[in-house]
Amino acid sequence: MTVIQWFPGHMAKALRLVKEKLNLVDIVLELVDARLPESSRNPQLEQLLETKPHIMVLTKKDMADPNVTARWLRYYESKGIPAVAVDSQHGQLSTIEKKINVVLKDKLALRESKGIIQQRVKVMCIGIPNVGKSTLLNHLVNKNVAITGNRPGVTKAQQWLKAGKSMSLLDTPGILWPKFEDQEIGKRLALTGAIKDSLYAKDDIALYGLEHFKQTNPKALQEKYKLTDEQMQLSNVDLLLELTKKMGFKEDYDRASERIIFDIRQSKLGRYTLEIPQLGGE
Ligand code: G4P
Repeated sequence: MTVIQWFPGHMAKALRLVKEKLNLVDIVLELVDARLPESSRNPQLEQLLETKPHIMVLTKKDMADPNVTARWLRYYESKGIPAVAVDSQHGQLSTIEKKINVVLKDKLALRESKGIIQQRVKVMCIGIPNVGKSTLLNHLVNKNVAITGNRPGVTKAQQWLKAGKSMSLLDTPGILWPKFEDQEIGKRLALTGAIKDSLYAKDDIALYGLEHFKQTNPKALQEKYKLTDEQMQLSNVDLLLELTKKMGFKEDYDRASERIIFDIRQSKLGRYTLEIPQLGGE
């Protein structure tokens, strides 16, 4: 798990490193978290990828609401962005390989017409910290490779890793920063563990999580914490205080908040998605 503090200098350098590497590859896999796809995109990447074929890879699909993930895939495809959903902890090679073949169909046909058939497609993964870049890369190449990432100040020789029959993956994924500006986005990132714990107030994030489950899956919340119907009617703050007592933490609602955040991150309240796409015609 990589957690990086972003400073303006780091951001500029990370962006420059990604730009340099873009020239080396045929296609980019932009990794986002299926539970918060838009919030986990880097704000500047879309612009950077205008001239490069790219596929949106929604990771951690095993943790997200499958119906909403299907909607997100339709949403991106409707915007002309090819998209797939994966569980990076399990082999996803053929899903990704197939999609790349579709996206690069013309380029590959051209290569073939020129008699170039042995050349592997060069691929790079990019995403914010903790989105699952290393996990996916390891599974795609089917071995454990030490992935150091684009850490500012760290330079190392570039390596290509063979994946499947047709891909060569850049061993260093591009790491970019998430969107910090918006409070709501910050809460989503914090709840899922995408940003450092010290960057937010635990009770704020726990209250946000409680509200989300009250709205979307109250049954899961009620069952997990054995809450009565009356307790389910409490305000979020009162519910947090009630849970603090129930958990045996007396007045220490920070510890209870930590536990609630942990439970949600570990999918102990089931699968969830924190943002829903606006699809035309729905
Ligand atoms: P990064 O390189 O983008 O920074 O992310 P990394 O692969 O390190 O993944 C961050 C965390 O997310 C890891 O958990 C990893 O196991 C988990 N993860 C990645 N992809 C998936 C996925 O598709 N599904 C699920 N359920 N989890 C995924 P961790 O707790 O930080 O580490 P560990 O417990 O695996 O050691």
